[in-house]
Amino acid sequence: MSNRRNFIKLSALGGVALLTQNACSSEQTSTNEESNIEPIIPTSNKPIVVSTWNHGLDANKAAWEILSKGGSALDAVEAGVRVTESDPENMSVGLGGLPDRDGNVTLDACIMDHNSKCGAVAFLQYIENPISVARKVMEDTPHVMLAGEGALAFALDKGFEKKNLLTDKAKEAWEEWLKSSDYKPVINSENHDTIGMLAIDESGKIAGACTTSGMAYKIHGRVGDSPIIGAGLFVDSEVGSACATGVGEAVIRTAGSAMVVELMRQGKTPQEACIEVVNRIIKKHDSIENLQVGFIALDKYGNYGCHSVYAGFNIALRDNETENLVDATYENEWE
Ligand code: GLY
Repeated sequence: MSNRRNFIKLSALGGVALLTQNACSSEQTSTNEESNIEPIIPTSNKPIVVSTWNHGLDANKAAWEILSKGGSALDAVEAGVRVTESDPENMSVGLGGLPDRDGNVTLDACIMDHNSKCGAVAFLQYIENPISVARKVMEDTPHVMLAGEGALAFALDKGFEKKNLLTDKAKEAWEEWLKSSDYKPVINSENHDTIGMLAIDESGKIAGACTTSGMAYKIHGRVGDSPIIGAGLFVDSEVGSACATGVGEAVIRTAGSAMVVELMRQGKTPQEACIEVVNRIIKKHDSIENLQVGFIALDKYGNYGCHSVYAGFNIALRDNETENLVDATYENEWE
């Protein structure tokens, strides 16, 4: 299916007449075909929020509560991803996240605003909403990232409650895994992983948030892309924003989200930028077996794109016209 056809389809889907480069699709786009993506025509679609995976639908609702009342993008993304963090049924983010190989739930998160202010926590335990700790790092310290015990001490000092995040369901899954203890950290590539969220508010300000429990059964102390500004998330109000999901190591190697934003700065559409970084990731790995990575990009006008290594990635979209899931375009079917 050509990108041109995607363009027509998504313009209709989005219901926004001049939304020209929102090129995600419910059908596969082969990027081997010659690119025929329309030139950028600056339009303005705000407020808008986009986020990763099915769990983004509920997260977007909380974000939209704020955006639709004229609230800030920063408040919206924090409130949005907190929903996913606090959902015990979600086994890849916050409470109920699958633990590391020693049974510890360790969380990574970051947040970034339109002024390039940002905060992050990595390898944080016992705190249900790491995104709010990341925001406190951004607002109440001169630093960008706190990790491990220091991050926990900071959170407790700020009044966050210490609690056990390992639910019975996650513990059972871990105990089942322990029977083989086969060290193959798992990214669930079909319908769960990180939640990354990007938003533009009524006043045009952009913000993003990203939060995860990371790879299931990882080595204790492993940190992925999600708390790393430029890898899991990047916002530059001159251009737009991007976030990543999937195998964090691959995203870090390519400075994934920062790269998507830089490619947009150079004139690529959000969709073209996502496609290029996904293909860089594929090129830089000898094997892409189980290597799922997906990006969402949102330019400052509210045009979005999304693309992944494998089929199965989708994004949740909410704007004045639309509330739905959109399948990302991709490079490969799963074998
Ligand atoms: N993208 C989540 C992680 O690799 O931890």
